[in-house]
Amino acid sequence: MSLATVFREHPNRRYIEFGGKGGLGKTTFSAATAYWLSRQGYKVLVFSVDPQASLSDIFERDIFGQGPVEIAPRLYAQEIDADQRIRAYQDEIRGKILDMYGLEKVPDEIEDYIQAAAAEPAMEESAIFDAVVDIVVGGEYDYYIYDLVPLGHALYYLSMASVYDEWIDKITTLREDMQEYAQVAAILERKKEREEDQILAELQDIKWRINTSSRILTDREKTAFFFVVTPEEMIIQDTLKASTLFARYQVPISGYIVNRIIPPELAQQEIPAYLQNRIDMQVRFLDRIDQTFGQEVLARVPEFERDITGLEMIGKVAEALFGEAVPAGTGGEA
Ligand SMILES: Nc1ncnc2c1ncn2[C@@H]1O[C@H](COP(=O)(O)OP(=O)(O)OP(=O)(O)O)[C@@H](O)[C@H]1O
Ligand SMILES: [Mg+2]
Repeated sequence: MSLATVFREHPNRRYIEFGGKGGLGKTTFSAATAYWLSRQGYKVLVFSVDPQASLSDIFERDIFGQGPVEIAPRLYAQEIDADQRIRAYQDEIRGKILDMYGLEKVPDEIEDYIQAAAAEPAMEESAIFDAVVDIVVGGEYDYYIYDLVPLGHALYYLSMASVYDEWIDKITTLREDMQEYAQVAAILERKKEREEDQILAELQDIKWRINTSSRILTDREKTAFFFVVTPEEMIIQDTLKASTLFARYQVPISGYIVNRIIPPELAQQEIPAYLQNRIDMQVRFLDRIDQTFGQEVLARVPEFERDITGLEMIGKVAEALFGEAVPAGTGGEA
């Protein structure tokens, strides 16, 4: 079965993720998929939270921190700048403090605290998480392609969703209990009840956002998660381990894509021994991949003559990935 068939047979899967170890081709396949789908007439967003700005590299355009940028007709790419979001948070907090206490300037001790909090790694994580939630619940595109960071991190984000969820559940329950007391207090002071309600409402909103986004990202009907693998011993082993872990987080694994296969036709030509050895080695591990993942292997992508950058190369990868020609544009294409 080809990847194109899989997409056609599951038109409801609009959230696409490519996972795998570092450097195997996640960003390359995310871009190629976005391009292919946009050529089919869909409005597509491919986005990343990676501070390495790898979508900028592959599309040959600086898009970091600029929101969704239109790369080609119906093809949008976005690189989230977590620091920018943290700065926006800080400004918001400063604004609230000035407002609440009617101050002209944030007191030094509080400013120190704001600065220190922003340096916490958890702050960056939550800024990124929040940005992803915004994108995913936005509903502006036909397809969302999440260009993931290497495996460990992706798992971390998934586990974050459940940790957040538990934490917010606890606080919400606490708040709801407190509200009973607050109602008594409210008889004495009306204003207080309103404040309590606001906090509860805000928590419930956060909970709703987290639930919605993590539900989407683990929903078998709406999400497809593809593992990228290469014909190498360690990569196959690690992928197998990771897929077991992912399954535990209910990630709907939709198939495996093999990347960087040296074209075997080369073996018919005069080639140096080391290249012949690599081809032989790949043949062995391609066999292993077939035994391990069998029918779930959806595409085999060759090693190209150079790095994948620019729409022309992306188009070639898309053809190998989907197993059919990229449709000619419907007008306005570069
Ligand atoms: N089939 C291929 N042929 C030639 N070069 C490739 C192929 N697939 C990927 N590459 C190149 O390999 C490098 C790594 O690919 P890519 O950035 O897509 O990996 P990644 O999995 O996103 O990496 P990271 O884990 O760092 O995000 C890039 O320079 C890319 O152009
Ligand atoms: Mg990448």
